[in-house]
Amino acid sequence: MGYKILNHHLVLILLIQLFLWVTIINGRFIPGPRSGHTATLIGDKIYFIGGTDFSLTEESDIFYYNGIAWVDLNNQVSGQDADMPLQLGNTASNIGGLKQDLIFFIGGTRFSIIYQLDTKTNKITSPIITGSFPNRDNLIFMSTVFYGGIIYLFGGGEIDTKTGITTLYNNHYIFDTINLNWKEGGLINAPPPRYKHTATLANGIIYYIGGIQINNSYVSYTSMSDVRTVATLAPGNTPGPRAGHSASLVENKICIFGGSFNDLSPIESIAMLNTSTLEWSIPHFNNPRRPNMPTLPNLVYHTATLVDKRMLVAFGNDTDNPVNGYRGLNKNFYIFDFNNNEWYITTADELTDPSSNIPKLFT
Ligand SMILES: *[C@@H]1O[C@H](CO)[C@@H](O)[C@H](O)[C@H]1NC(C)=O
Ligand SMILES: *[C@@H]1O[C@H](CO)[C@@H](O)[C@H](O)[C@H]1NC(C)=O
Repeated sequence: MGYKILNHHLVLILLIQLFLWVTIINGRFIPGPRSGHTATLIGDKIYFIGGTDFSLTEESDIFYYNGIAWVDLNNQVSGQDADMPLQLGNTASNIGGLKQDLIFFIGGTRFSIIYQLDTKTNKITSPIITGSFPNRDNLIFMSTVFYGGIIYLFGGGEIDTKTGITTLYNNHYIFDTINLNWKEGGLINAPPPRYKHTATLANGIIYYIGGIQINNSYVSYTSMSDVRTVATLAPGNTPGPRAGHSASLVENKICIFGGSFNDLSPIESIAMLNTSTLEWSIPHFNNPRRPNMPTLPNLVYHTATLVDKRMLVAFGNDTDNPVNGYRGLNKNFYIFDFNNNEWYITTADELTDPSSNIPKLFT
């Protein structure tokens, strides 16, 4: 069952032309800003795929960061499907395969075709898939979680490019990355249709947080005290509602960061949910290099990747920086160090400098 809401954002995103895609500085590859991409950690590499800088590129960018360098894979990936179509809106990409060294790209503008990047060989293929296929294309901003060889996908919106109307779904799809097989997931006790939410796996339970939902034709931001699939109130300093945020599991707490609320930044840019007690708390972070910097960055459609107890926040839109009626792209990177609750502003360039005074993600 689908429900329709009007979406201005993606239409605008698709119309606005902004920055260049990548730059090469002194022969080194430095990725340019972008939004709505995905980030996948495999071993000691974070793979970034897709997203847009609003310049209407037809293909998805692919590159990784390994703690020392940014490595461009755009010209290295091979295979019959090496030119992957543009993937937008954190559609669904996740780790998979028996050895967990494959990245699967699902959805975006072509939900019916799955692409698979083998990170050992940098080869992209589009394998033959069996089972009960999701019957839609163009699903964006759904959530995905990987567990035991299976990718679990929930929710998402389907945009009609002619009318700008987005239809929300509470789809639950299950993709087996080992047997390359689709299944329908159950919808018992499922939350109302929603998108731009997050899904985080902790101790075998998937926690769906935030996003925009439609319940009995009423469109709203999901209350942050409504944490599914454990339908319990989340007491404590419940943070403001939001969509387009990120969620990372830090030990037994889910750290949500950023997002937007009615085109503005949510009041608390960072919040933690204790998954044992389902209590929210708002952590305080210091910035040792910029002690007078009053607030944390306000980002949406970024990614946050946890490496041990350090979180790399990359790309996305800066909600404090309006451009052309929408929001400017974020040009900085941020490291949140949960070892001592410190955060750092950094740049793509500085992240490749071994002598830089920032916490190292891979040691
Ligand atoms: C959906 O709406 C019904 C009635 O309008 C309400 O009782 C219920 O709590 C709502 N559920 C959510 C998750 O907002
Ligand atoms: C979650 O809350 C419980 C009870 O207050 C506490 O014992 C536990 O340490 C908390 N978990 C984390 C990861 O802080």
